[in-house]
Amino acid sequence: MLGGRTRDLLELGSGYGRDAVFFARHGFRVQGVELALETGQVGAPRSTGGEGSFALVPGDAQGFLERQPAHSADAVYSNLFYNMDFTAPEHRVLFRSVWRVLRPGGLHLYSVRSTRDPWFGRGRSKGKDRYEIEPGGITLHFFSRAYADWVGSARFSPVARAEAREGKSDFPVRLLYVVDRARGARASVRNRRARAL
Ligand SMILES: C[S@@+](CC[C@H](N)C(=O)[O-])C[C@H]1O[C@@H](n2cnc3c(N)ncnc32)[C@H](O)[C@@H]1O
Repeated sequence: MLGGRTRDLLELGSGYGRDAVFFARHGFRVQGVELALETGQVGAPRSTGGEGSFALVPGDAQGFLERQPAHSADAVYSNLFYNMDFTAPEHRVLFRSVWRVLRPGGLHLYSVRSTRDPWFGRGRSKGKDRYEIEPGGITLHFFSRAYADWVGSARFSPVARAEAREGKSDFPVRLLYVVDRARGARASVRNRRARAL
């Protein structure tokens, strides 16, 4: 799915960069953003041999996306990032920014804990499909397929959805894997108009 001319990949919420390194080893030029990184941990792009390289940037994903030139990325990827405590309007803003940086036809690929995850419904409700798992602890936003379809619908066409159980037996998680393709600007406007009628 990522073959062909796909080269420039952005990752949101990279953590320690495990996936960024994986993609770089497979020839991608990866830039990842991670809120928990210290400024001193910023690295110049590092080569992994061949044509691949990766660089991790500390900071917030929204600001990172806004600093990228429009239509400069072939793919935007994230693993378990959109489950963080984002509201639906915040997701829509992020998705709009992802669409702006993607070349028309570029891919938005992400995995998220699904509404069939064992933790879904645990803790205190903070709004639709959002739960504060433990008092004062993290809030997670779980994704249904319908939500994934809706949140990308203004600017993306669905390519694939799949669900699977992952994790260890003492910490099972159920993930929804989503692949969307960025529509061109004209198609997005047409689609919005059609939905407004
Ligand atoms: C569940 S972890 C997943 C990390 C990594 N993708 C992985 O698969 O191991 C979510 C990551 O998103 C980061 N994060 C949360 N909010 C963020 C934001 N607004 N901008 C950038 N990173 C963020 C967190 O610091 C955390 O490292």
